[in-house]
Order: sequence, then C-alpha cells, then structure tokens
Amino acid sequence: MVEIDPWSSTTYKNYARLRDEFGIQEFTRQLWGDLPHPHRLLRRGVVFGHRDFGRIKRAIKNKQPWAILTGLMPSGKMHLGHKMVIEEVIYYQSIGAEIFIAVADIEAFATRGFTLNEAEKLAKEEYIANYIALGLKPKNCQIYFQSKRKEVKDLAYLLGKKVNWSQMVATYGFSGSTNMSHIFSPLIQTGDILHVQLEKYGGVKPTLVPVGVDQDPHLRLCRDIAQAHRLYNVNLTRDGRIGVFVKVDRNVDDLLDAAENVAETMGFKELERITEYKALYIDDAKVDDIEKLDESLAFRETEFGGYGFIPPSSTYHRFMTGLTGEKMSSSKPESAIFLSDSPEDAKKKILNAKTGGRVTLEEQRKLGGEPDKCMVYELFLYHLIEKDNELEEIFNSCKNGELMCGTCKKKAASLIGEFLEDLREKREAAKDLVEEYIVD
Ligand code: TRP
Ligand code: SF4
Repeated sequence: MVEIDPWSSTTYKNYARLRDEFGIQEFTRQLWGDLPHPHRLLRRGVVFGHRDFGRIKRAIKNKQPWAILTGLMPSGKMHLGHKMVIEEVIYYQSIGAEIFIAVADIEAFATRGFTLNEAEKLAKEEYIANYIALGLKPKNCQIYFQSKRKEVKDLAYLLGKKVNWSQMVATYGFSGSTNMSHIFSPLIQTGDILHVQLEKYGGVKPTLVPVGVDQDPHLRLCRDIAQAHRLYNVNLTRDGRIGVFVKVDRNVDDLLDAAENVAETMGFKELERITEYKALYIDDAKVDDIEKLDESLAFRETEFGGYGFIPPSSTYHRFMTGLTGEKMSSSKPESAIFLSDSPEDAKKKILNAKTGGRVTLEEQRKLGGEPDKCMVYELFLYHLIEKDNELEEIFNSCKNGELMCGTCKKKAASLIGEFLEDLREKREAAKDLVEEYIVD
C-alpha cells in the first residue's frame, strides 16, 4: 500500500499506480478535449488524474456557476513547481470560473512553524505578487487568509462532528505527539473547500480543487465529510433500485415531497414513496443518473437547514522532477528555478541540469537522447514551449540524434531568461495591486 503524506517531501514516480490505488480517474483527452483553448498542462498529461471532473464540465456546458478553490502554503520562495497550480487557476478563470484562493496561514503556523505575520508577509510579497504577474485577474477572484475568515474556521469546527480520531489516524498517521493545531489543519482545509458553497459566498455549486497529488488525502476526507453532512443519500439498493433516502429524522415528509418534486422536474415518472423507510424509489432512473439526482437534491437541502454540499471535484498534477533529478524543492536551491532567480542564476542551474544525453556526442548521434529522462526537456514540456508542434520537434530530433544537449540547454536558458525578466517587471508592477485581491 502506498501512502500519501501531505506534509512530507517525497516524490512520486508511479502516478498510474497511485491513481489506481486511490480511485483517482485518468484525466483523458475526452475530458479536456472540448474545453475552450485547453491549457498545455491539461493537454500534455501533466494533469494526470481527477475526481468528478465531469461535474465541472456539465456546469460549463449548462452555463451554471462553478468555482475554483485552491490554497497556497506560504512557506518559502515560489519556484516553477508552484507555478503550475496558479496557471491552472488562471486558465479556469479565463473560461468563467469564480476563483477562491486560501492562504494557508493556519496550516503554515501549525505544521511549519511560521508565525501568522510571517505567513502574511510571505503570501503577499512572494505568492500573490507572482500570481498577479502571471496573469490572475481581480474580477471574480478573492484571496483570503484562513486565520481571518470566520466561516472557514466555524465549518472546520462544526464539520468535525462527523469525523473521528480513528479516521484521522488512518488517513494521516497522526500519533499521540502530533500537536492539536496540526491535527486540526485538515479540517480547516475542508472549511476552505466547502465554505464557498455557503449562501454568503454564492451558495451550493460545483467546485473544482486543482492540486498536486500529495493533497489527495485532504480531498478524500473533505468529500467524505461533505457527504456525511448531507440530508439525502442517493444510491443503488441491493435489489437493483435507485433510491433517494432521507438521512435525518426531522422534516422527513417535507424532504420526501421535495425529492419527489426534484425527480419529477428531472422527468422521472416511476416513483414509489415509502415513508416508513424514509425512501423514494425512482424505477425509471439509471445508475448514471445518480450523480445528477444527488446534485439537484443538494440545491434543495438549504431550505431544510442542511448545507447541501456538492462533493468537490479535483484534478491532480505531477510534480516537477527538479533539475538535479530529485524533487524540485525550496530546500535544495540547485534543484529548483525560483521565480525571483536572475536569468544568470537560472542559466547556471540549467547548464548543470541532469539531461537524457549520452556520454559522448558520438554516442548521442548514434543512439539519440532520452527526452523522457531529461530535466531540460521537462522544462520545455511544463513551462517553456507553448506550441505542441515545436515541442514535438524537439522530442523527435533529440530521439533521432540530431539535437545535442548543448544546443538544447542554450535554448532553455534563453527562454527562461526572457520569462524571468518579463515576470520581474510585472511583479514589480503587481506589488501595489495585491490588496485589491484580498477579501476578508
Ligand atoms: N495544504 C495545502 C498545501 O500544503 C494548502 C491548502 C490549504 C489547500 N487549503 C487548501 C490546497 C484548499 C487546496 C485546497 O499546499
Ligand atoms: Fe535533453 Fe535536449 Fe539533450 Fe535531448 S538533446 S537529452 S532534450 S537536453
């Protein structure tokens, strides 16, 4: 059994295995293919998995409101690995999502030893300034601090009612010496993800959380919690019927009326209501209808004092390997290109990077290089080359031994130099705009 520990710094190599083991679905072309101008991270398999992305597609298609919620941990300088999430967010903003970004200052305090003030300063000067420089727009976007948003903290406390200690230990491996703030931080993250569905923030809606795969335990926990607080449950019974079940003891009749109403509006006709089972059976519904039924019922729950949380959808991207061949990490500066590096520093790191080149030029001409194992190629793939045909050309000419690593590194160094220079200017300009994005 592989375990995912969101606070460790291990790198994951076998993404397909992770996906299978945790029930993450493959992020196929079918899913991104008909989105408007799909982002390169989606097209190129960097985003490799998802849960319930279909729900988001349905919202886009039906022009319903939907949201992106993601979080940033202010714990060091931003590097290229951190750039991926925000690029995804900016892409989703461009196709109509409402954007919420949590500054995980409570988590940074609880798990990394930062003070709230340090976390705030770092978030504003380093992360948010870069986000704006990379293209995040203020419209339909709010960035908030966990420590300042009452609804997030309240939800963390209240939703914790349906999680017990054994579940936390099984999910995170907490032990008797783990501090209480740390133990509580996954609940704060659940508060982050679900609070956007409260009425104050626009109400019940499909929400997509784009993250690195290390965050999946938090998503599993959050989805379980969302489900546990629902008033209805829709499922396939043992005798093969689709049933809507009321999970609470208050307002059962009214809840069943509402369920009947929802089923009829959706066009179902073969309904059988059995009040003493608190059930409504829908015999002309199919398994494929469960998700839509559940979603339509969610919208009615707030009338009865429920939250009606729609379980969050998520996508997972791969980590960058890092220039040295290990995980890109702030604690190993030579492995990472920081967004604040000078073009000269970045160039030096690229010249020292691990490539998929052969030992001699002669051998490389004969055998070709190995772009799949090359950190320079990874830079092109993830960040530096926008056009797919140009990337493909590099891949092929490396493979067939026409392209040599020296030429390639020069190209990467020059592209990253231009990028960093341009970003530096934009970041300077962004510093005065940071407060515009922050909403308490
Ligand atoms: N735990 C995340 C990290 O370590 C940060 C985070 C906080 C987050 N709240 C979130 C991520 C909500 C996604 C959704 O980076
Ligand atoms: Fe990597 Fe370029 Fe060398 Fe191929 S030629 S191994 S892509 S650096």
